[in-house]
Amino acid sequence: MTIRWYPGHMSKAHEEISELIRRTDVIIEVLDARLPFSSSNHLLEELRRNKPCIKVLNKHDLADPAVTTAWVRSFQTVSGIRALPLSAKQLAEVKQLIKLCKHLVPKRGNPGYPVRAMVVGIPNVGKSTLINTLAGKCMAKVGDKPAITVRAQQIDLRNGIHLFDTPGLLWPEMSDQGGAYRLATSGAIGANALDYTNVGLFAAEFMVRRYPELLKARYKLSELSEEPYEVIEAIGRCLGCLASGGVVDLHRAAEAFLRELRAGKVGRISFEEPETAIPTETAAQVS
Ligand code: G4P
Repeated sequence: MTIRWYPGHMSKAHEEISELIRRTDVIIEVLDARLPFSSSNHLLEELRRNKPCIKVLNKHDLADPAVTTAWVRSFQTVSGIRALPLSAKQLAEVKQLIKLCKHLVPKRGNPGYPVRAMVVGIPNVGKSTLINTLAGKCMAKVGDKPAITVRAQQIDLRNGIHLFDTPGLLWPEMSDQGGAYRLATSGAIGANALDYTNVGLFAAEFMVRRYPELLKARYKLSELSEEPYEVIEAIGRCLGCLASGGVVDLHRAAEAFLRELRAGKVGRISFEEPETAIPTETAAQVS
């Protein structure tokens, strides 16, 4: 099943981003550390006009630490890009971001002459959480800019950083169905755009291949089938997702499995590695 998801209000977004970037000193692109490739929007690279960009690898508490380290190394090779793994819920980690913004824009960074930082990211990567942690009680909403139809909100953090918050300005690229399925597995795609059973089967196939030991440990499985249906069945049995007659309810089992995976209950998992995160039309077309 092909995943299509393109909320209408995002369609004018890149013109508006382009306009905002003119007035920005540094771009903070929030990515999901578990899938930094698919949670980014590659248009941003075109639009950023050599402005420095910090790739925040958010939710690193859920990602495989070794893979996150590999991503940081890979991003550092691109001119003007810095990568910072953090958890947007942890103030101590978020403070590193403030430091890095000031380091990248040394001519600014005091309350009278703040660094103007634009926060972008696809839905659900943790932008609001990050902004709330950054703003804390100091949050000062300067007001909506009527010319900017996306309602970019400005927030003066009163610590030398002025944020442009751009809700929902970026969207993931769904032409890459492998990426779409990884996003769906992570929880970034609205439930009404996907079929839980298909996404659960995709996730089971991935986990068997990449993290079999975590799967066995969580669901007390001594052996893993290579057939994703059988894996979901075994997980469903373990989680008690049974229909009448004692058969596993595959839909419920897939949904429960995805909920656990997204919450980190199966372990710290990365869905993409820098060497292999290439677009594929076919990888995830489980039908
Ligand atoms: P958005 O603005 O980019 O759309 O994302 P938002 O901040 O709403 O975050 C989406 C979900 O990701 C939220 O979970 C949020 O708590 C979670 N989240 C954000 N940052 C982190 C992080 O660093 N680590 C972890 N583990 N989770 C993070 P939710 O279940 O939708 O909401 P809630 O029940 O947690 O409030």
